[in-house]
Amino acid sequence: MIIAIDGPSGAGKSTVAKAVAKQLGFSCLDTGAMYRSIAWKAIDEGVSFEDSENLGRIARECPIEFGIEPGEVLPRKVYISSIDVTDAIRTAEIDKAVSPVSAEPLVRRALVDQQRRIGETGNYVVEGRDIGTVVFPQAEVKVFLTASPEERAHRRVRQNADRGLGSIDYDEVLADIIRRDKVDSSRSDSPLKPAEDSVSIDSTSTYIEDVIDRICQLANERMDA
Ligand code: DC
Repeated sequence: MIIAIDGPSGAGKSTVAKAVAKQLGFSCLDTGAMYRSIAWKAIDEGVSFEDSENLGRIARECPIEFGIEPGEVLPRKVYISSIDVTDAIRTAEIDKAVSPVSAEPLVRRALVDQQRRIGETGNYVVEGRDIGTVVFPQAEVKVFLTASPEERAHRRVRQNADRGLGSIDYDEVLADIIRRDKVDSSRSDSPLKPAEDSVSIDSTSTYIEDVIDRICQLANERMDA
């Protein structure tokens, strides 16, 4: 079974995807981390974000892997070409770089292929922007998770502090979220939009536990059907 969770950044997709996966005994796949890893590798290799061919080459040739730490049940570590980029892909530099990189059709094609191959190996909660619309249109459960830009900015500021990645400016984060929403929703290839058959959940003022319960309930209903 595939549970697709799409929505803008900061809507709570990662937290919710991990909790749902744990509760149901599924694995989970963070596709945003894959686009972030390509952006990191492009910067590392000095490849311009306008260089479609080389961005596509990186996405096709540099393997992305997820690692499970001892004592954990879900993957947390991210590697590209065997380099640990778990923390390096969460910086403000990558936040900015990832939109143009993820808008590149050659990058999308290569990563969507990888995502489908991974999803075929078992039960997955897959989070991203185009999972229910493009990657797994046949997903048994499709959720579109949203929250207000202001709430998402607050969450990102708290998340960075919790991860020990230093403090970031709320206004800058909010401006970046609004800018990225626009780029992600208006790009021609696989724009961010709810699948027609998705269930929309607004997490602005809903307890995250209730969001998790609702998605598990949807999955259980499908499993029983
Ligand atoms: O979920 P995130 O913030 O880590 O995603 C990083 C970027 O990757 C974001 O700008 C949108 C893009 N992305 C995408 O285009 N398609 C996906 N399936 C996942 C993420």
